[in-house]
Amino acid sequence: MSRSLSAAFGSTIPPDDGTVTLQGRAYRPGTLLYQGKESRVYSACRTDGGDGDTAFVLKVYECTPGDDVWETALRDAEAGRRLRGCRHIVPLLADTIRRSASGTSDRCEVFLLMPKLLTFRERWDNLPSPPFHEREVTALYRDIAAALQVIHRRGLVHGDVKPDNLYYDPRKGWLLGDFGSVIRRGEPARTVSEGYCAPEARAGQPCNPATDAYALGVTVYRLVCGDRLPFCDRPCNQMTEDEVYHAIERRLRGEPIPPPTGISPALRRRIGKLLRQSWS
Ligand SMILES: Nc1ncnc2c1ncn2[C@@H]1O[C@H](COP(=O)(O)OP(=O)(O)OP(=O)(O)O)[C@@H](O)[C@H]1O
Ligand SMILES: [Mg+2]
Repeated sequence: MSRSLSAAFGSTIPPDDGTVTLQGRAYRPGTLLYQGKESRVYSACRTDGGDGDTAFVLKVYECTPGDDVWETALRDAEAGRRLRGCRHIVPLLADTIRRSASGTSDRCEVFLLMPKLLTFRERWDNLPSPPFHEREVTALYRDIAAALQVIHRRGLVHGDVKPDNLYYDPRKGWLLGDFGSVIRRGEPARTVSEGYCAPEARAGQPCNPATDAYALGVTVYRLVCGDRLPFCDRPCNQMTEDEVYHAIERRLRGEPIPPPTGISPALRRRIGKLLRQSWS
């Protein structure tokens, strides 16, 4: 168990005014932005008006020490702390844990505080159409590859690179977030995001930096191919689950992935390398 999480456990009394105290500052959760399988994400602001207009998000894991969600929360918090200060990584500003106000006595809530950033969708939907498109894709590739390099140097694998886990900050560029699937190099994947998951990860085999590179390759392929995953002849939202499944099966059987067209040879080669294809 993480030292700072365990040190905080039990020491924070849930206030009855709905605020959350992190590093001596009180934050008030606002709109629920996301309700996932394991976590909830709220927009948040400081109750004392400090930090001006800065908007925050609070990611909340409700769990019992030792269960799967607890494990995910610890990974998310610990990786966030280890990677603090890295330019292309969503900064974890603070984290804490407290006993749940409701439920059984050992239920607790893990809170992660981060700046509120533009999500992938919010950024992408506001971009001008081509020819700026390739420039933006290249910027995304460069920034996320830089984030992965830092993660991999620390012996970690992100384990769930995909558009939903990418954010944009106008001052910093693209940032990689969501560290709940982080593993050590050589461990099997904890998360299988269909379409993005490299063959070894899907097969339960050890993952390594190339596993993240592959997922980044699929992400970039999808962007330059009009929202198509490799082997899909139509955008994802126009395909049934069954069709996507068979497309993924073809990829896993080792059929060569068709190269994207309409982009520069340099970007095509780069994507090919990530996807383990030798396109010229
Ligand atoms: N820093 C942030 N700024 C803006 N929105 C955020 C931020 N962090 C998370 N979100 C929103 O919350 C969503 C879920 O966040 P995240 O990816 O961290 O959770 P998750 O681990 O995937 O959740 P689960 O595994 O429970 O499905 C994001 O897709 C995004 O919409
Ligand atoms: Mg996520």
